[in-house]
Amino acid sequence: MKALILVGGFGTRLRPLTLTLPKPLVEFCNKPMIQHQIEGLVKAGVTDIVLAVNYRPEIMEQILKKYEQQYNIRITFSVETEPLGTAGPLALAREILGKDHLPFFVLNSDIICEYPFELLRDFHAAHGKEGTIVVTKVEEPSKYGVIVNHLGTTCIERFVEKPAEFVSNKINAGIYIFNPEILDRIELKPTSIEKEIFPLMAHEQQLHAFELDGYWMDVGQPKDFLTGTCMYLANLAKKQPQLLVNSECEFVYGGNVLVDPTAKIGKDCRIGPNVTIGPNVVIGDGVRLQRCVVLEGTRIKDFAWVKNSIIGWHSTLGRWTRLEGVSVLGDDVSVNDEIYVNGGCVLPHKCIANNITEPQIIM
Ligand code: GDD
Ligand code: MG
Repeated sequence: MKALILVGGFGTRLRPLTLTLPKPLVEFCNKPMIQHQIEGLVKAGVTDIVLAVNYRPEIMEQILKKYEQQYNIRITFSVETEPLGTAGPLALAREILGKDHLPFFVLNSDIICEYPFELLRDFHAAHGKEGTIVVTKVEEPSKYGVIVNHLGTTCIERFVEKPAEFVSNKINAGIYIFNPEILDRIELKPTSIEKEIFPLMAHEQQLHAFELDGYWMDVGQPKDFLTGTCMYLANLAKKQPQLLVNSECEFVYGGNVLVDPTAKIGKDCRIGPNVTIGPNVVIGDGVRLQRCVVLEGTRIKDFAWVKNSIIGWHSTLGRWTRLEGVSVLGDDVSVNDEIYVNGGCVLPHKCIANNITEPQIIM
């Protein structure tokens, strides 16, 4: 089977991390976002993946070559010269997506869940229409695409992208399967699938909704990235607890802690709940970490206290530092001893020598 992953966009909402790596390569729970998706697709029998990119394809190409061999798949880069939106990239990849009469998957690159590709394929075949959208329920639907079904059926009646007024709490989870006929609806120009294609397909009763089980999150912004991390870890605790640090371990507090085997952790630390620690991270003594993400190569010195924050690659937190309020440090940031950071968004290579008491961007 075939799939297209929409990996364009500049990932501005996930800055400063996306100043260093494109959004799909930022590690989520110690694995690049896109690798989670590729693994899900491969499990469902996908062998042909198109990456629709319009931003820094060179970095992506290097890393993804590796996955071709690792998963025995073909990855093709479909590079846009101008951003084609969420539908235009399908037209650009028409040759691959339309090469046979079989349906193909399409997904947004920033969503995390237990990808239901196999069930989705069967559901789609069973209703026989042109497309299926995976839907989930959220409390705050206004920042998503919202869906209304024909009463008592799975057939979609209306699709409204980011409605200003409440329509429904059932939203587009950013995972689709389409028959190749959809390609005849899309021209090779910047086009929004959500605003220009789905409403028409719904009107023609060619779209069905598949309800997702379990957790789901768009992790394209820091606050949601942290929430998604908690969801993913809670699911691991239920389904594959052997991948987490055993909660009997002396430093684990409250469970759901994921630590790369190459990381080093000092004495008398209290870590958890909901913490991920990447490769080659070095944590000193007496450090307190909760609800946070520590990316590769970072050093956290003795008695630091971190909550609700993401610490980018190769950064250094001084002794007795305190980080909270969805602070995000970019690559190679250093924070001096005894500094307090609340909601700081710190660009790569900065040194923080003064307290940041209110949320702000440091550049
Ligand atoms: N190739 C390419 N070119 N990809 C793009 C472009 C582009 O011009 N613009 C956006 N994308 C990619 C993004 O990288 C992302 O993977 C996906 O398309 C969706 O774009 P976002 O910017 O993340 O959209 P959103 O989060 O505001 O809304 C979308 O996702 C929601 C679920 O998370 C919509 O699909 C909503 O309907 C949906 O509910
Ligand atoms: Mg998004």
